[in-house]
Amino acid sequence: MNNNISELVEIKQTDKICISDVLKKIFERRSVRKYSTKEVTKDLIEQILAAGKMAPSAMNKQPWRFYVMLNKEDINLFSKEILKAGLKSIPQMGIKNLINTIVSGISQLSHGIDFFKDKDPIFHGAPVVIFITAPKYDEWASLDIGMCSQNMMLAAKSLGIDSCPIGFGKFVEKTPHYSKLGIPLSEQVHLAIIFGYGEESPLNPKRTNHNVFYK
Ligand SMILES: Cc1cc2nc3c(=O)[nH]c(=O)nc-3n(C[C@H](O)[C@H](O)[C@H](O)COP(=O)(O)O)c2cc1C
Repeated sequence: MNNNISELVEIKQTDKICISDVLKKIFERRSVRKYSTKEVTKDLIEQILAAGKMAPSAMNKQPWRFYVMLNKEDINLFSKEILKAGLKSIPQMGIKNLINTIVSGISQLSHGIDFFKDKDPIFHGAPVVIFITAPKYDEWASLDIGMCSQNMMLAAKSLGIDSCPIGFGKFVEKTPHYSKLGIPLSEQVHLAIIFGYGEESPLNPKRTNHNVFYK
């Protein structure tokens, strides 16, 4: 495990390759799970959102909607409620999904989440939480939102802001205070992303390398 870009992209010192800023940010971005309380300005949040909206989307539908949560009390409240809702949903996962989750959770592909040590294992004390939704029954929405999310996290990184995608965020739909977010019933929450000024520099989790097949 390392964070050295030239090693990660296998660029030798002698190669005359210019590592672009984008490439740098792709390799430098990490899921950060410890934040300072320093506020992220509205202007920076707007720049991150603007980058998200520049993502490609199937048939240019741009299905994403963003629900930005900045209030500390709300973030704490939803964090607790989402954790409960997520745990409750475990028995409904189906045996195959459950086994898969447990196996990948304890396998060598470490993911950096520690549900037992972290005071806030959902939003990790971040000052900004953005829930991303799309209209229900859109076949391509989750792919579109994946692209949009990565744009947002790379934009954030280039602005000096750290982030972490929170898949658990989708359980917000099952929390008692969900209506407080004003998300219409016609929309589905796909993901939450947290943003803030990181107070840790996680190492690059091990990447799998046996997944490219030239034919
Ligand atoms: C769809 C998705 C859902 C994720 N959900 C969570 C989550 O609920 N909590 C968390 O701490 N990290 C979550 N992560 C972050 C991953 O654990 C992380 O991306 C992975 O371990 C690789 O680390 P890196 O982002 O630093 O490269 C999620 C990532 C993705 C793409």
